[in-house]
Amino acid sequence: MTAPLADPLPHEELGASWRSGRPRPAGRHLDSAACSRQSHRALEAAAHHARHEAELGGYVAEAAADDLLQQGRSVLGGLVGMAAADVAFVESAQAALVALLTGWRLSPGSRVACLPGEYAPNVAQLRTYGLRPEPLPVDGIGRADVDAVARLLADDPPRFVHLTHIGSHRGLLQPAGEIAALCREAGVPLVLDAAQSLGHTDVDLGADVVYSTSRKWLAGPRGVGVLCVRPALAAQLTPVLPEPEGEPPMRAFESGEAHVAGRVGLVVAVGDHLAAGPDRVRARLAALGRATRELLDDVGGWKVVEPVDEPTATTTLRPPEGVDVVDARRRLLVDHGIVASAIGAERAPGELTGPVLRISPHLDASVEDLEALAAAL
Ligand SMILES: Cc1ncc(COP(=O)(O)O)c(C=O)c1O
Repeated sequence: MTAPLADPLPHEELGASWRSGRPRPAGRHLDSAACSRQSHRALEAAAHHARHEAELGGYVAEAAADDLLQQGRSVLGGLVGMAAADVAFVESAQAALVALLTGWRLSPGSRVACLPGEYAPNVAQLRTYGLRPEPLPVDGIGRADVDAVARLLADDPPRFVHLTHIGSHRGLLQPAGEIAALCREAGVPLVLDAAQSLGHTDVDLGADVVYSTSRKWLAGPRGVGVLCVRPALAAQLTPVLPEPEGEPPMRAFESGEAHVAGRVGLVVAVGDHLAAGPDRVRARLAALGRATRELLDDVGGWKVVEPVDEPTATTTLRPPEGVDVVDARRRLLVDHGIVASAIGAERAPGELTGPVLRISPHLDASVEDLEALAAAL
């Protein structure tokens, strides 16, 4: 038996509409930090665009979707505190970082401050561009220490700060607003990796660059991402090819050949997010995170890593002695129909000392889903 929850989940109507607005899951989907489930509306919009390509020709269909795509840039820009002209559609969060670093052309050896628990592929990209990642000061659980960051920025400022707002390997919310204010004061650009935070928590916090992906908390299609850059920094970027005549500079960072149907699907998914109400979405996701931690801590010897009231929906669990996380994840899927992720230490080698099981429910998850997971563990 698991202990009862301290509080019921808020906005049950949001859970119900999220559930009824998408295909029935084959099992219990608790894996939105990997990839969410799309809505019928997003799926149909993408399929409709693909059909249009066959009927009209790909480029004619793209031109016909121009207004919709521009509305999407506008709404995505609004979510990060920027304008439509500051937003480029790309193929993933990693593609956004690559596009940024390609355009920025920073001198090799430039220092970039990032969390010790930085997502390993981001560190690899920084190194590929000749940059030198250096650790931001953190507390014992991996949260940036704001006072120590202020000292770093004053004493020995890096070329830029790269902050991953919520990790892939840990459901901690970093103090991005405070760090953005410090960076602004110090004249150091802040690049925010919002792959795990856009659609999950507030990202309109004053960063100079925000990049993210469609498929996680916004529940859009795979193969789509966004790169958002404020004009002052965009003016310092040199794209490989200039932007098309009459277009804003950030348009140069959109690949000419793209999964346009996926971009259309993302625009509809962002519309779903706005219609649900970002504040209500955040409140329910945070409550789902709390419920997950309350219901799972110590069950079967699994230990929750995050503080119980961390305002995110992502929870990671350290395994009991001798339990293989990859095998546990496989058995959850095969024997119980529960979708979760096994996260190996290589995902964040500067912080993880061993693998963890990651649970990341979206709005449609229920207490019953979490109880089923507790029983399975
Ligand atoms: C924190 C973080 N950053 C970046 C990425 C990369 O996103 P994408 O797979 O869209 O490139 C991920 C994906 O899991 C992530 O969790």
